[in-house]
Amino acid sequence: MATIDASFAPNRPARRIDWLGRAATFCYLSIAAGQLLFTAFILAFYYPSSLSGNFAAWNAKPLIKGFVAGDPSGNLFFAVHVMMAAVITFGGLVQLVPAIRNRWPAIHRWNGRLYLLSALMLAIGGLWLTWGRGTWLNLVGALGISLDALLILAFAGLAYRSARARRFAEHRRWALRLFAVASAVWFMRVGYMAWGIATGGAGIGKAMDGPFDIFLAFANSLLPLAVTELYLRAGARGAPTARKGVAALLVAAGIVILAGSAGAWMMMWSPYL
Ligand code: HEM
Repeated sequence: MATIDASFAPNRPARRIDWLGRAATFCYLSIAAGQLLFTAFILAFYYPSSLSGNFAAWNAKPLIKGFVAGDPSGNLFFAVHVMMAAVITFGGLVQLVPAIRNRWPAIHRWNGRLYLLSALMLAIGGLWLTWGRGTWLNLVGALGISLDALLILAFAGLAYRSARARRFAEHRRWALRLFAVASAVWFMRVGYMAWGIATGGAGIGKAMDGPFDIFLAFANSLLPLAVTELYLRAGARGAPTARKGVAALLVAAGIVILAGSAGAWMMMWSPYL
């Protein structure tokens, strides 16, 4: 589409606004705001208690199990899990900043290794906490988060393999998919809050077994993954209308994420700091 500028200067390429790119930046910034709040909560609530060995302090917050007296290995797994949670949440945000990738590739490589290591530890440790320690409220929720763990393991392997083989376009796609599923537990918290604000909590059961709980048990990974897939497809070979449609979706997602993150900070995290 020719702009007025271009019609006066035919040799200059027409300037088009990259709505998809701008919407993706907005969506990323919304995610970053929410994930920085989650990271701040983990650092302030779990790090002092875990590093000082005062594990009983975890239970100041409502948890399914958290600290269990007489279960040193379960408590240790939990401590490692929550400490790695801050590493993966902050590390994922750093990995996605193009300026860091371009200017300081060594940071991208080392942070990428740390990110993959934390993804493996959280997925395998999380599976053990769920099935080995028996930390679950209902079977659907346990199956949903286990699916997420399997997706994390698969995408981490594929992102690593394509980076090693220097297939960077492919690496970017697997890394974005990994980011989507590795953020699932955060999406779940933000999703509950956004839904609660919009509906007053319709479909949420007492044991997290209502229709919305069952939906979110799987949607926490599959919904961000589907949006990521649409973004990748629209960016690679989308028609202008498809690109605009996905841009609108990303802006809507960003607004929901901002509302959900503010809710999570006010209801789930800051009351325990
Ligand atoms: C990959 C990113 C993950 C992050 C950032 C993360 C973060 C956390 C955090 C912060 C907690 C403490 C509970 C809270 O304060 O809300 C926690 C607990 C837990 N997580 Fe994860 N987690 C991740 C992945 C997983 C996966 C894949 C599973 C299961 C397969 C899992 C299973 C659990 C379990 C069972 C608990 C214990 C809950 C309790 O005792 O109440 N996590 N996780």
